[in-house]
Amino acid sequence: MPDDMSGDAPSGPEWDFLRGDPDPIAAPLPAAPPSAGPSFGPSAEVFTPEPIEPPQIKSDHHAVALDALSGAAPEPGSPKPDPILMADAVVRRFGGLTAVDVTHLEVQRHSITALIGPNGAGKTTFFNLLTGFDKPDAGAWTFEGRVISGLPPHRVSRRGMVRTFQLTKALSKLSVLDNMRLGATGQRGEALWAAVLPPLWKRQEAAITARAMELLERFKLDDKAGEFAGTLSGGQRKLLEMARALMSSPQLVMLDEPMAGVNPALTQSLLGHVQSLRDDGMTVVFVEHDMDVVRHIADWVVVMAQGSVIAEGPPAAVMADDRVIDAYLGAHHDAPLSIEEEEERLAKAENELQAEIEQASADQSVEGGATP
Ligand SMILES: Nc1ncnc2c1ncn2[C@@H]1O[C@H](COP(=O)(O)OP(=O)(O)OP(=O)(O)O)[C@@H](O)[C@H]1O
Ligand SMILES: [Mg+2]
Repeated sequence: MPDDMSGDAPSGPEWDFLRGDPDPIAAPLPAAPPSAGPSFGPSAEVFTPEPIEPPQIKSDHHAVALDALSGAAPEPGSPKPDPILMADAVVRRFGGLTAVDVTHLEVQRHSITALIGPNGAGKTTFFNLLTGFDKPDAGAWTFEGRVISGLPPHRVSRRGMVRTFQLTKALSKLSVLDNMRLGATGQRGEALWAAVLPPLWKRQEAAITARAMELLERFKLDDKAGEFAGTLSGGQRKLLEMARALMSSPQLVMLDEPMAGVNPALTQSLLGHVQSLRDDGMTVVFVEHDMDVVRHIADWVVVMAQGSVIAEGPPAAVMADDRVIDAYLGAHHDAPLSIEEEEERLAKAENELQAEIEQASADQSVEGGATP
């Protein structure tokens, strides 16, 4: 959503938590007393954070995660009782710019962790690094206690950690079902373009198709299975990408702005899907600019600014943190794209996905040759 950046205060629904406007998702609550923190200038009084209702427990996994997080210190790098992902001293520079400089981060298993921060904070770059789509200048990270830094994306995915993209990636000239089948990373028969599939692969193809259809049904895209992905709306592409990420039965799902650009009706549905991932036993990390969404579904919030984690904790504490408010002020602006720009970005994303698939297929042929 484009923001109106005129005046002192940022506007748009995602800023409601700063302005104290009613929360469209949660029931309206009485306003909190004005913050005793540093002043933000003439309009300081409008930045009073909303009180936040206590999280509603949705499942056993959720209860366990909340219980674990209740003992975690609300500070950058805080240790978690049962971390599924741990990152240390991760640095990525682009020329003179340090895009990511994360000293330490732990993600609690079965939680929904929101990664927030102003534009250019390094959130996407951090996702790219953790999932093998980019290489760091320094740093290491573990998933389920095993080092995965340095692994290419398809091997990260095979270990159980997948991500979706801020700019949705789909191959528009392939059917929705074939796009889904491409998500079955790490399984034999992944290379759809392999002209002749040995019988074993064919059997697995049937299982892959069955799983794809099951997921398409879950995401209410089953009636689109035979259509070109290019015919889907922006919101349906988001659903397709989330569904495709689940093809490899991941333990950790990383979603980069899953709700961005999606119409309000679909936002509710996406929110429900994100919660159901956690309730089914997965761990979710998601990037989001809309603070109503964050406070509605996040169990824990990590805030990045200028590459580093500047705060983390439960949503209520983080959103009342003056450093967070300070980092956000006037810093979030999604400029509206022209149709040409949107098409250019989609084409770029499609090319990237094509290149990733070819790379993964090539790597798998090499691996397959080494260990038949
Ligand atoms: N390939 C690249 N080459 C040069 N600079 C880059 C590259 N990718 C990212 N950057 C820069 O790194 C910084 C972090 O960018 P990143 O996309 O990770 O931010 P972000 O937090 O995801 O922002 P947004 O909320 O707008 O998506 C920005 O200053 C960006 O311009
Ligand atoms: Mg980003």
